[in-house]
Amino acid sequence: MRAYLGRRYRLSASHRLYTEALNEAENQNVYGKCANPHGHGHNYTVEVSVGGEIDGATGMVCDLAELDGLVGREVLEPFDHQNLNTLESFRERVPTTENLLLEIRKRLERALPRRLTLAVRVEETSNNFFEYWDEGSGKAVG
Ligand code: NI
Repeated sequence: MRAYLGRRYRLSASHRLYTEALNEAENQNVYGKCANPHGHGHNYTVEVSVGGEIDGATGMVCDLAELDGLVGREVLEPFDHQNLNTLESFRERVPTTENLLLEIRKRLERALPRRLTLAVRVEETSNNFFEYWDEGSGKAVG
């Protein structure tokens, strides 16, 4: 039988929403105060859900410590307490939370065993969240 294991992580980072493809006024128009030159920070909540068969021997979908290690290495270490605009991952993309979600998804999909499906939810504020899940898994996080 399949089941999903969800785990919540916290990540603090700063960003400025700004693209050189637009001029100053257009950036202000599109991103509003998020385009302010000195940036601002968020305490993101990152929810990771992995789906798979429950292992007959261990009774688990996946080892929680392994998942923590993987998320720590792939997501928290590179992004926690960073200015996202300065990172290679966002050199050519605006560090919106949509793009942060895509980057987290890419890193986790690369690192997870293939037998596991992945869903990721990144909460930017108490009012905004962004989600990704494997098409076909039929499962969102939360
Ligand atoms: Ni922001």
